[in-house]
Amino acid sequence: MLILGIETSCDETSAAVVEETGNAARPWTIRSNIIASQVPIHREWGGVVPELASRQHIRDICGVVERALAEAGARVSDLGAVAVTQGPGLVGSLLVGVSFAKAAAAAAGVPLVAVHHLAGHIESLVLHNGELPPPAVVLVVSGGHTSLYLVERPGLYQLLSRTRDDAAGEAYDKVAKLLGLGYPGGPVIDKLAQSGNDRAVQFPTTRLTHPDRNAPGLKGDLDFSFSGLKTAVARYVKTGPGTFSEQQIADICASFQRIVVTTLLDRLFDAARRYQAKSVGIAGGVSANSRLRAELQQRGDRREIPTFLPSLQLSTDNAAMIAAAGLRKLRAGDVAPADLNADAALVL
Ligand code: KG4
Ligand code: ZN
Repeated sequence: MLILGIETSCDETSAAVVEETGNAARPWTIRSNIIASQVPIHREWGGVVPELASRQHIRDICGVVERALAEAGARVSDLGAVAVTQGPGLVGSLLVGVSFAKAAAAAAGVPLVAVHHLAGHIESLVLHNGELPPPAVVLVVSGGHTSLYLVERPGLYQLLSRTRDDAAGEAYDKVAKLLGLGYPGGPVIDKLAQSGNDRAVQFPTTRLTHPDRNAPGLKGDLDFSFSGLKTAVARYVKTGPGTFSEQQIADICASFQRIVVTTLLDRLFDAARRYQAKSVGIAGGVSANSRLRAELQQRGDRREIPTFLPSLQLSTDNAAMIAAAGLRKLRAGDVAPADLNADAALVL
């Protein structure tokens, strides 16, 4: 069975064709995964401009889907289902994908599957590596989210914690903006940090110990917070000499990145210990970070627990992960109604 996946939650228009393998341990394989990035459009503004994003999705969606089908060697009549990101994300952007997917599913006469964007990121791990040994603890860390999930069995996602303020990727983007490094901030900070001294500047680490009144269902001590770190970098930059040398900028990037990576991995492995996880994984845009990838592997080796990452292409937003999560839901009998609507604040 082939499924068409569509992802338009933020600033990437993506369509993919994913095939079921029939092998339970490695359930899916990618036939095509086309991504039209809007980064050059938003870079000029220092971040994603929602109105520009939805307009660009409209321009790109037909061509992206046509290319995904062509590269997969598939026609619309070969599809068994259409999966689409229902939320969370920018509502105008989501609506383009949801409307297109509803029309495509109706035209092909196949079921429509509504996918949560973070379920897509979690399933990117399975798409790339095969099923994770359960129970698995998965950190989803992107520009919009920093959340820990317990996956006791495939397709069952239990939220353990999330950030109380900024997402880690958002902190990267804001710190890069402060330093005049452009958008998006993650890749450039990652690169500059490699030539910096990560102990040059002492930035604070946040450790939450108390429950969050806004999330009474969560214990709270596995939560994240990155706004204090961002403010500390801002204060350091403002009270600094005015201009920084290349080396000083690299030192700030490395020092900032050390705190982010350490915090993410500390909470991930705290959760793994608490829930006696048999595997851990990291997905989402920030999982492309070189230091995070290397340290995940080192800590996993030390604790003798298998660690999983998506490929770099599957780390950032893409439709193949949405198609994979869609197949999971379709096989569980979870099909969307024909009047499906986008939901900017959809909860997983
Ligand atoms: O998953 P994603 O493509 O979109 C969202 O759902 O948010 O993640 C994008 C985020 C951006 O904040 C970007 O700065 C960050 O991922 N990112 C990175 C790296 N590559 C992308 N952060 C740190 N290091 C990287 N190498
Ligand atoms: Zn994402």
